Amino acid sequence: MFGVCYYPEHWPQAQWEQDAQMMSELGLTYVRIGEFAWSRLEPNPGELDFTWLDQAILTLNNAGLKVVICTPTATPPKWLIDQHPEILPVDPNTGATRGFGSRRHYDFSSVQYLQQSLRITRALALRYGSHNGIVGWQTDNELCCHDTALSGSSNARSAFQAWCSDQYSSIEKLNTDWGNVFWSMEYRDFTEIELPILAVTETSPAHRLAYRRFSSDQVVNYHTLMVAEIRQHAPDQFITHNFIPMNETAVDNFALAAPLDFTSYDNYPLGRTDLMLTGAPADQLRRYMRTGHPDFATYYHDQTRGLLNRGFWVMEQQPGPVNWANNNPRPAPGMIRFWTLEAFAHGADCVCYFRWRQAPFAQEQMHAGLLRPDNSKTEAWPEAQQAMLEVSKLDITNQTTQSASVAIITGVEGLWVSDIEKQGEAYDFNSVQFSYYSALRELGVTVDFISVDADFSPYALIIAPSLPIIDSAFVEKCKNSSAEFVFGPRSGAKTSEFGYPTDLPPGLLQTLLPIRVLSVETLREDFAEVLTWNGRQYESCHWREQLDAANTEVIATYHNDEPAIVRSGQFTYLGTLTNRAFLLDFLQQQCEHNGVRTYRFDKDIRVVQRGALMFAFNYSEQPQVLPIAANTQWLLGNATVEPHGIAVWRAIE
Ligand code: GAL
Repeated sequence: MFGVCYYPEHWPQAQWEQDAQMMSELGLTYVRIGEFAWSRLEPNPGELDFTWLDQAILTLNNAGLKVVICTPTATPPKWLIDQHPEILPVDPNTGATRGFGSRRHYDFSSVQYLQQSLRITRALALRYGSHNGIVGWQTDNELCCHDTALSGSSNARSAFQAWCSDQYSSIEKLNTDWGNVFWSMEYRDFTEIELPILAVTETSPAHRLAYRRFSSDQVVNYHTLMVAEIRQHAPDQFITHNFIPMNETAVDNFALAAPLDFTSYDNYPLGRTDLMLTGAPADQLRRYMRTGHPDFATYYHDQTRGLLNRGFWVMEQQPGPVNWANNNPRPAPGMIRFWTLEAFAHGADCVCYFRWRQAPFAQEQMHAGLLRPDNSKTEAWPEAQQAMLEVSKLDITNQTTQSASVAIITGVEGLWVSDIEKQGEAYDFNSVQFSYYSALRELGVTVDFISVDADFSPYALIIAPSLPIIDSAFVEKCKNSSAEFVFGPRSGAKTSEFGYPTDLPPGLLQTLLPIRVLSVETLREDFAEVLTWNGRQYESCHWREQLDAANTEVIATYHNDEPAIVRSGQFTYLGTLTNRAFLLDFLQQQCEHNGVRTYRFDKDIRVVQRGALMFAFNYSEQPQVLPIAANTQWLLGNATVEPHGIAVWRAIE
């Protein structure tokens, strides 16, 4: 299925019918509307105006289109901010109030804003919750985008104090758990607690972890109440949310997704590549500037799918240059079709393009759409058409979604720990997790992202690249699982209150691997040292742990012959970060050992399976010949995959 993001309020009403006709001619099924329209839905306090929205919905429905409606809460209108200025969030880095005039200018701790959000949501849900032309809802827009999870407001401070008093049985317990004796940071009462911001130098990591947990709970609470409000009045319509990259929300995305029917993702491969490769050598960025990095889009597709372990939507798909990265190139010819099929191959059930027509005004006037402001069609148009034909011919959406046998355990606490305690420039949760994912993808392995609470039984190999805080329930689950486990450095390295385990890291993991981390060193990015594994030399870099291997099997060593990677039964522990060459060889061996098929194609080829279909995507500028059996049943293309091209064949069961 396909759709588009449309803002009827941006265009004269006289234009709507033609727009709807053209959408329908293009073959779209869904239109997402209403996302930022609060100032038109309620131009004055309490004066709701649904007439224009009724008309827009009718026009779209008359053309055979189904509508997805959004709660407009990412953009509280000016009158509301003037009435209740305390809705505005405070930047925790500067203490300055973040003002009106863009979007997401609200504080998750403002009770006033929560009530206002639920009020406008209720009004919309009451009006449209049983409307036949509305199939579903999108909550808010990109929660936590623009660094909005945290606020340093006085609302946040009071809510944090209340949260702390719920979490800790007494102020003495909180003082002990946070180590407040350390710099005379002890509190006498919960009402004395500060937010861990704007201090002279670093605040206690436990205090900061608590602030992250609290802020995450605030976002989840806000969202869950909104979903409940819609659900009550729209029981037969779906509810989804359009996520940004999971590491950027900086909150517990599993908890955020829990009340939804399915998750959605906003896919901007070029913008993301440009931002993520900021500072990378020019050659690396140039190579992918018009295609996106081969793993950046699917890294998030797979995570989006993993949040609820079911099919997802791409709610916004980049159609051309965007306006918000450092640099905003045009996609290479064919990439709109390529990204669209790639999303379906990774489990999408629907792709919606953002946006219908480029707006000739305001912040995003340099952002492409399917149409230009003069109504001419952009290159994305025929590519979307082609993708629609192919998706239907291949019957992709009727294929069951992935059946991965390899899983990566992810979770926001790893990200929080790496943000809070840098200890070195080069340890970054997201880069560490991405390096494992990307190596597995280069090996053609289909990967699920799971939480520690997931069912481990479908997996042969489970990898935890960065899991510093664990509990004994997790350790028990690992013990009772038949999978093999690979733990990255820093696993089990912190207690639940951000302390150093007194029996040394990897803390509770010692039940599985009786080792001790004696010390940790971090090295400059360009100061790698030798890692010897399997008779070959690789790199140990960035983060290196000195291990007491006890009676485990040492399977790799540092330059000085000390143990670097150890194994005990089904559990392997890496004491170091490594380079890509190592990850490729090591993970290939782990996969093969566990009966997981791998491929070693060109480094710009990505292979993935969905149901009975195998897909190969060629990210390079050269044709690539796939060394695949001669009797392969080709469903799209053939063994020679064109530059930026796709081949699909029937998987052999
Ligand atoms: C998304 C956002 C849209 C629009 C788009 C531009 O992140 O949801 O509203 O701003 O970016 O690329």
